[in-house]
Amino acid sequence: MGKQKIISEINYDLYDSVSELSGEDQNLLKDAIEATETAYAPYSNFHVGAAVLMENGEVVKGSNQENAAYPSGLCAERVALFSASAHYPGTKIKAIAITAHFKDLPELLSVSPCGDCRQVMAEYEHRFHANIRLIMTGDKGKIVVIPSIKTLLPLMFNSENLAK
Ligand code: THU
Repeated sequence: MGKQKIISEINYDLYDSVSELSGEDQNLLKDAIEATETAYAPYSNFHVGAAVLMENGEVVKGSNQENAAYPSGLCAERVALFSASAHYPGTKIKAIAITAHFKDLPELLSVSPCGDCRQVMAEYEHRFHANIRLIMTGDKGKIVVIPSIKTLLPLMFNSENLAK
């Protein structure tokens, strides 16, 4: 067979305001907003908050933690995800909400997870065979809800690549 053209699509829901989200997602976004207060971001002044909802109903929050040696810092998403996995080992992750604002400015900004954080989220989806819903603040007050991380990382590397 000759060349095949493969098209990979991403699907997500775009909401005009937080009030249109389910109660569960509204609460999780509130937790993410709260989490921005614990950011340690003296270098970027970009305060990111993430909240992870576990299958057992627990919510684990995280915020970005920067470092004078810049690459040693960690994004809010990975702080929250690793903390969730360390506190509730083996528990499925249902959703993660993310938001950000600049220090001392109230406006919530659109923040889309970086490649490393996508890879970490995808690991948990793969491990638990369950989609993780991603809730993000979008531009001009809109909210983006992505039903699964997989679509954000087409052709991802996962444990199957390590199977001998
Ligand atoms: N950051 C996050 O915490 N999450 C993201 O999704 C994007 C970036 C942090 C890393 C760094 O502390 C600051 O935002 C500026 O890049």
